[in-house]
Amino acid sequence: MEKARVYWFFGLSGSGKSTLSDAFALRLNDFGQHVFRLDGDELRKGVNKDLGFSQEDRMENVRRAAEMAQLALTQGFTVVASFISPEEIHREKVRSVLGEYVEMIFVDASIDTCRTRDVKGLYQQVEKGNIKEFTGVSAPFEMPNMEELRISTDGTTVEHCVNVLWEKLIVSRK
Ligand code: ADX
Repeated sequence: MEKARVYWFFGLSGSGKSTLSDAFALRLNDFGQHVFRLDGDELRKGVNKDLGFSQEDRMENVRRAAEMAQLALTQGFTVVASFISPEEIHREKVRSVLGEYVEMIFVDASIDTCRTRDVKGLYQQVEKGNIKEFTGVSAPFEMPNMEELRISTDGTTVEHCVNVLWEKLIVSRK
């Protein structure tokens, strides 16, 4: 049995975090893990409804999510989380709550790719001036350092990305 872990996917809106983390969570399920999913959009509908997108609110958003992940972890779940976590201080907060149990995964896609995909139509809304403080456009996204595990979703399939992650995070760590 794998040691329980938190897999924390971060990156721009539209980078493929949710798609990739859903597929990765399914693979973990098939592998016999009890998986607990945490996703920024989902949490913001309920438990984090009171939070916006200022740097401070994003910090509180990821802090609460990391604390929830910690609770799930202590109950034996493997956690798969997806949050933009745009700045290093947000990622530091996650690491400080979860310590050695967290694997940070940078889902890398250029802002142009995210804008072209525009799955939720948000980049179009940003263009129209309807959304302020949008990550990568009018709010910062700080690139992580090169040591961070990075998976590029530009011009590749979800299946390929999951295979790469599986190899790096599960197979080669046994
Ligand atoms: S985080 O920055 O605090 O980590 P989180 O992952 O919870 O963000 O939420 C991001 C999601 O909120 C985006 O995928 C998008 O659907 C939505 N959203 C709405 N407004 C914004 C905004 N100003 N910046 C980024 N995402 C936004």
